[in-house]
Amino acid sequence: MCGIVGYLGPQQAAPIIVNGLKRLEYRGYDSAGVCIVAEDTLRIGKQAGKVANLERDVNPAAIPGTLGIGHTRWATHGLPNDVNAHPHTNADGTIAMVHNGIIENYLTIKKKLLNAGYTFRSETDTEVLVVFIGMLYQQLGDLELAVRTALHEVEGTFGIVVVSTHEPDTMIAARRGSPLVLGIGQQEFIIASDASAIISHTRQVIYLHDNEMAVVHRNGSFTTKTIGNEKTHNAIQEIEFELDAIEKGGFEHFMLKEIYEQPNTFRDGFRGRLQPSEGNVRLGGLSSVADKLRTAKRIIITACGTSWHAGLVGEYLLEQFARIPVEVEYASEFRYRNPIIDADDIVIAISQSGETADTLAAIREAKMKGATVIGMVNVVGSTIARETDAGVYLHAGPEIGVASTKAFTSQLCVLTQFALYVGRMRGLPAAEGRQIAEALEAIPDRMHRILEQADGIREIALAYANATNFLYLGRGYNFPVALEGALKLKEISYIHAEGYPAAEMKHGPIALIDANMPVVFIATRDEIYDKVLSNIEEVRARNGRVIAIANEGDEHIAAVANHVIAIPETHPALTPILASIPLQLLAYYIAVERGCNVDMPRNLAKSVTVE
Ligand code: M6R
Repeated sequence: MCGIVGYLGPQQAAPIIVNGLKRLEYRGYDSAGVCIVAEDTLRIGKQAGKVANLERDVNPAAIPGTLGIGHTRWATHGLPNDVNAHPHTNADGTIAMVHNGIIENYLTIKKKLLNAGYTFRSETDTEVLVVFIGMLYQQLGDLELAVRTALHEVEGTFGIVVVSTHEPDTMIAARRGSPLVLGIGQQEFIIASDASAIISHTRQVIYLHDNEMAVVHRNGSFTTKTIGNEKTHNAIQEIEFELDAIEKGGFEHFMLKEIYEQPNTFRDGFRGRLQPSEGNVRLGGLSSVADKLRTAKRIIITACGTSWHAGLVGEYLLEQFARIPVEVEYASEFRYRNPIIDADDIVIAISQSGETADTLAAIREAKMKGATVIGMVNVVGSTIARETDAGVYLHAGPEIGVASTKAFTSQLCVLTQFALYVGRMRGLPAAEGRQIAEALEAIPDRMHRILEQADGIREIALAYANATNFLYLGRGYNFPVALEGALKLKEISYIHAEGYPAAEMKHGPIALIDANMPVVFIATRDEIYDKVLSNIEEVRARNGRVIAIANEGDEHIAAVANHVIAIPETHPALTPILASIPLQLLAYYIAVERGCNVDMPRNLAKSVTVE
């Protein structure tokens, strides 16, 4: 959450920073701001709202100077107004800082500063930290030392970038819990929350580790070190994606582009891994934990939001293919309930961003208790990817839309392969393995067949765009799809939506059904198809409006549902992959019709790096 950018080099900093902020805006969009070190003053422009407002009203790109920082905010402490917007400065306005994270002991530090006579303009924890750094600078006369000394006293999380008129040829960044990437160009540096703000300048980057800082100088030299001042030697890496992966490419929204990318991103998730002729899969990143997987007594999957829904599908897949007990835990709950875990357990963390604070805390807890932790992560080099014992990347490419779409289907791609891999080592017959692998290989073509129906799905969406509630129902593998469909709708259209196992409807939610309640059923042909058909009848008997996701050519469903969206047949275990796509499109078109900002839904941010 929150996007931060810093630039030091020969070029004008402000336009580079503003462009970087636009790339990072999906991380938070409550306010935006820029600070440029111009001669011996700090020139700051900041404002509530999106980067576009800042550009329109403040025109920060016109501020001259070759060193500067910028921020796009997802508010934690204090209202999202102009005053609370970053950058913040110290008491005499000579040091400026942008910050992502939460300083948990800021009130203690603030009290100390108030006692020393300092005053504050904003309600933010960030201002407290920069004022503290300023006070230490007065005593120590060295910016880096002041930053390090301050950070020793800080509890909580931070990704910060600091600049000062005292040292106009230096930029300092530090992180704990919030990601930071240092881009290294020709005599220039760009520091950002993620590589999307860097790629148009350089592909050479260093991913900073927790408790690490980077100090960069105008002469092109730089050091990385721990906050405790021990030099570190991070490898310079190459950004793996291309610039067009973070552009809309002619689509109206990133979300729509990402929905349409799924046949390709899904294929990238099994390319080079799947071995259909052997009914098996090669997952190089798991070789070090293969023996543990062979003998593990149980698997715990932990994640948040959409990734948690993928985990639920994973539970069904692993229990069916590998006959191993699986528990799926909300990462935010897992950590705080003193879970019973031991060295025989395997914990899987699923995360698109690889930076979700709750998931990160859960894996640290699991590791502390001796479990083996496996990551299923999209963002290469992210904290979760680094902190897990082994892992499988999703290879979905950058996901910019706040509502996760392609990452979800890629998570299902990886989970299916993982279940196949563990299943084969625990006795799943090769013939069954082949069926699964062949079905997986056929998914991208089947996805195309669903995407071709976008116009029909849009028509259904227009008919229900004014609904105030939605119910999503599915059973077995399709229950997590119901949850995911409901989440997609509520997060981008702000319509209240609930997902339930279809059979649970009669235990309560059926009371909600009337002619104003659209009910989305995922009713594909599987062993509980007849039961779901009965559930549909029950809704129709109470005048509920039924939108059914059913298999192509299903006459029974067509006869009872008000609307049918047809998806191709596949292996029952892979149905969630196909069934989720029409639900993504349905939510998307409803949100667009309601005039919602699909890529930046209110109150949300892409990567939730605070607990
Ligand atoms: O990056 P992660 O997968 O760890 O993120 C987890 C959730 O924050 C995320 O899935 C969230 O629920 C999305 N906005 C859903 O569309």
